[in-house]
Order: sequence, then C-alpha cells, then structure tokens
Amino acid sequence: MLRAAVLVSGGGTNLQAIIDRIKTNELTGVSIVCVISNSKKAYALKRAEEAGIPAVCISPSAYEDREAFHEALMAGLKEFEPDLIVLAGFLVTIPPAMIRQYSGRIINIHPSLIPSFCGQGYYGLKVHDAALARGVKISGATVHFVDEGMDSGPIILQKAVEVMADDTPESLQRRIMEQAEWRILPEAIQLIADNRVRITGSRTIILPEEG
Ligand code: GRF
Repeated sequence: MLRAAVLVSGGGTNLQAIIDRIKTNELTGVSIVCVISNSKKAYALKRAEEAGIPAVCISPSAYEDREAFHEALMAGLKEFEPDLIVLAGFLVTIPPAMIRQYSGRIINIHPSLIPSFCGQGYYGLKVHDAALARGVKISGATVHFVDEGMDSGPIILQKAVEVMADDTPESLQRRIMEQAEWRILPEAIQLIADNRVRITGSRTIILPEEG
C-alpha cells in the first residue's frame, strides 16, 4: 500500500478527487495517511476529517521563524511515514531539506500546461488571468515531480483543456479542475503506486501496464 500524505492550503477539491477515487476503487493500492494544511481555515481539513483521515494544521504563524516552521512541517510528516507527498494546492514553498529527504517522492498539481504560466507568482486565479490575457486557445493542467526550482521538476502527466471566448478566470479555473486536475492527479498517483514512473534526468518515462 502506497502511503500518501496530501498537503493543502485551500478548498481541497483535488484532495476530494483523490478521496473519491479511492472510495470507488478507481484508485487502488493507495492510502491517504494524513492531510496537512498550513492554514486552519482550509476547507480541505474538513474534507479530510469527514473522510476519517488524520487532519493536521501546521501554521507558520505558530513558529518563531521559517526554519522552525520547516522543521515542524518535516517532523509532522515524518510521524506518518509517507511514501509519497502530494501537493494539492499547497501554497507554501517546500524547504530544500524536505525535497532532498523525499527526493523523487513529492508531486504537485499546477493549473496550466507547464512551461506556460508557471513559476514565481503563478498560483490560483493569477494563472488563468495570465492565460486569458495572452489569448491562448488551449490551457490545462500538469502533474510534476517537485525539485528545487519553481514548477520545474519532471512532468508526469498533462491534460489540455479548451479556452472559450467568453471565459473568465473563474470559469476557466473550474473547467480545468473538472476536465484535467481532478483526473490527472489521481491518475499520476496510480501510476506511482503501480511503480510505472521512472525519472530520467529532467523527464519521466511511463512504463506500460503489466499483463
Ligand atoms: C488547484 O487549481 C491546483 O492546481 C493549484 O491550487 C488549486 C487547489 O485547489 N495548485 P483545491 O484546493 O484542490 O480545490
């Protein structure tokens, strides 16, 4: 059983997608061992509690400095001994020590087709704002491994979504979640649970299904 820790900051619809797929057996061999949020207001914590998953808040404001917060985050995670850390809308920069400790075992979902509209400052609605301002006809979502850069790790899965002429950032965000994020995040976790993802340099190779 792959032990997944899910890190969140907000509404937790991606977390919900993972919980639902496990419940319906569309995602197998995976158990969510904890949900950790940096904000106690995150609705994602409620979703975790309702699903009977340990829900923990580790807030930077409870610590003297960034270093102490990072140590608490890593100690909190260690308690649950995760095999995989899933950043599902986690708005905190991951400390380099944590990236080293869980090398190749942290994944993130980003609401654009990387390398478009990613990196510093591209989060939440800002991503969709920028996509609409540039006038792209296609956007989408990306699941990638986390390295020490910003949205720069090896890509696991991507899914394209059409941009409509009358889209607002909100409507585009919703369509990308429904058509891409909530599908490819559980799919990527399944691939990892099935040991089908290999990292080679800056890329990944997805091995064919066995049998
Ligand atoms: C998603 O758009 C995700 O791609 C981004 O943050 C958002 C989180 O939404 N990284 P939710 O909390 O899963 O509803």
